Amino acid sequence: MNLRNKALSATLLLLGLAGCITFSAYKTPKGAEKTIDQRVDSLLAKMTLQEKIGQMTLYTTDWGATGPTIREGYTNDIRSGACGALFNSHTVEFTRELQRVAVEETRLKIPLIFGYDVIHGYKTIFPIPLGEAAAWDLAAAEQSAHIAAVEAAASGLHWTFAPMVDICRDPRWGRVMEGAGEDTYLGCRLAEARVRGFQGKGLGNTDAVMACVKHYAAYGAPMGGRDYNTVEMSDRYFREFYLPPYAAAIKAGAATVMTSFNDFDGVPATGNKYLLNDILRDELGFKGFVVTDYTSINEMTSHGVVANEKEAGELALNAGVDMDMQGAVYQRFTAESLKEGKVSQKEIDTAVRRILRIKFELGLFEDPYKFCNAAREKRELLSKPHREAARDIARKSVVLLKNEREALPLSKDAKLAVIGPLADNTSDLIGPWSAAGSGDDCVSLLAGLKAQHKGKINYVKGCDVEGDDRSGFTAAFSAAQAADVVVVVVGERATMSGEATSKVDIGLPGVQSLLIEKLAATGKPVIVVLMNGRPLVIPEVDKNATAILEAWWLGTETGNALADVLYGSYNPSGKLPMSFPRSVGQIPVFYNEKSTGRPFDPNSKWTSKYIDSPNTPLYPFGYGLSFTTFQYGAPTVHKTRFRKREIVKVQVAVTNTGKVAGEEVVQLYVRDLVGSVTRPVKELKGFQKVMLQAGETRTLVFELGEEDLRFYRFDSTFGSEPGEFDVMVGGSSDEVQHIRISLD
Ligand code: BGC
Repeated sequence: MNLRNKALSATLLLLGLAGCITFSAYKTPKGAEKTIDQRVDSLLAKMTLQEKIGQMTLYTTDWGATGPTIREGYTNDIRSGACGALFNSHTVEFTRELQRVAVEETRLKIPLIFGYDVIHGYKTIFPIPLGEAAAWDLAAAEQSAHIAAVEAAASGLHWTFAPMVDICRDPRWGRVMEGAGEDTYLGCRLAEARVRGFQGKGLGNTDAVMACVKHYAAYGAPMGGRDYNTVEMSDRYFREFYLPPYAAAIKAGAATVMTSFNDFDGVPATGNKYLLNDILRDELGFKGFVVTDYTSINEMTSHGVVANEKEAGELALNAGVDMDMQGAVYQRFTAESLKEGKVSQKEIDTAVRRILRIKFELGLFEDPYKFCNAAREKRELLSKPHREAARDIARKSVVLLKNEREALPLSKDAKLAVIGPLADNTSDLIGPWSAAGSGDDCVSLLAGLKAQHKGKINYVKGCDVEGDDRSGFTAAFSAAQAADVVVVVVGERATMSGEATSKVDIGLPGVQSLLIEKLAATGKPVIVVLMNGRPLVIPEVDKNATAILEAWWLGTETGNALADVLYGSYNPSGKLPMSFPRSVGQIPVFYNEKSTGRPFDPNSKWTSKYIDSPNTPLYPFGYGLSFTTFQYGAPTVHKTRFRKREIVKVQVAVTNTGKVAGEEVVQLYVRDLVGSVTRPVKELKGFQKVMLQAGETRTLVFELGEEDLRFYRFDSTFGSEPGEFDVMVGGSSDEVQHIRISLD
């Protein structure tokens, strides 16, 4: 070793020692025996009260805040230890610099966590969650969450504020786009799949981000569908229909939970000990940390359950909220509250411990920059495999609502008129909550068609999404007259769904319905492609269109995916995860309603119905067509009576009776005929997606056990009751065949 090398190794040794001195308590040297709990304890012992409160504080940076930014100068906040986590901060370059301030310029060098709303993709954008739910494909949901995590983690992020698992039966609520729709069973399975996808092989892997289940609880049930509004439901109803998806996500390992803005049984969720302590931690065994929604501690003053923000902070902390998002309430008042004995040191330490534990699990004390790799970022974002997956999942999410005269699939040689305000659009395709996604990366439907079409395409816009300008109708009409077939692309603007976008009119905005009516008058086949974030009320479209494709917001690969469906190289297999009402007056309309004492009878006036509308929705939950047809045999069971710990096998033969191969989502529903409390007329208990070649028959087997028949009984215990059950199998909630079984 020459002198120079010696000097260098001496310096490295010193630096290493310095590193050890700095981090000795928290860093795990190779082969170290310290558990995470021991490391957390030793770090906690060194922290001042202010440093602890800093760890309980989450601020947004200036990027894409979702509300008023009430704190500025976040770099100073990091430096002074006033915050331990940031959101809306992403990209390697940006997060590396913020992290550098945390680990080089603060006393204890505790790394930051970076969070972001990565809801349906980071840069490569997948269908909105409601659309993806229509695929009834758990592997697809897991894959899209995984790819979102790979990209987000490559861009410096550790944490996504997803999945949103709020059950919703009211399409007026704009955030319905972010969830899995109206059904609890489908919602649970998708919640698990999405958590698995985000968190992958576990925290600390650089292809995973931690999940945050939201919005706990019952945020999807605001009165009147108006965002942030009061939630009022019985405990039984909550536990039966709304709680299970949160529970499923937690069981799947979700590391964090976000509280909701609404109140629940009179107490805002952010200060609700029953929800956060009794149910979440005691009953569900949640071990991670709880973060509030954006300033939801502060908002408890408006709820009127506390006199000021200081009291709001006390209510939240005592209820079990660990981290304050953006409200700076803990930051400003907790020390004083502690002095006054309104909160305890123990509660503060417990919250900080939960947060630090996760920072250790993420491996940030070993390498605070492990998620900051510019080469990885460049390689992963919008990579070819990610775009291919986005195209595939987008195709799977499309629902064929109508297809008269076999208008679809289209011939590639046809003379095509492509019309409508969303036909040549790219900016809306990423939908709401689209993270770092950009319309510039999207393939419009027109571009997707042009890439595959051989004949002539004539594009005319026709009208805007909004407004009453019909001046483009004449050109659209002429284009339609000159064509063999018309494709009309209509819907909402992406900004019309998502947070704070509740609506009382959920029909097609503007003059779009009139445009369709006008085009239908040509007598040409009119194929309507709908782009929207919620179930719409579209009886006139249903009347005038020859075929309808529900395309939601499909993301980056929209045009390619839709062209695959329109030309039939992909046979649509999506099924609605939420009912499409006939009118707003029917809302809420959902498939798993309870029976009444006067169930609907068309021959009796005195039964539960409207005098001006059917009870049924326009398109029910579970509904969706294919380019082929499926026939169901009568279901059979291998035994009609069974006991606890036994299984009933339900068999059904499904045949593809059409001319092309296709996939069918075979759905299994159950009705408990007599319960100690009223039971839904049908509840989804299982589904299988099966690919059948033309003419092929497959027999599918579902297994039902006693645990599938449990519910909150009269005495509020959770369990089954002996008796008879109607088992139903079919390709939609409104088209099923029945068989009876009984539980001893
Ligand atoms: C939303 C949350 C979101 C948060 C941070 C809030 O307004 O309700 O879902 O995670 O903002 O962006």
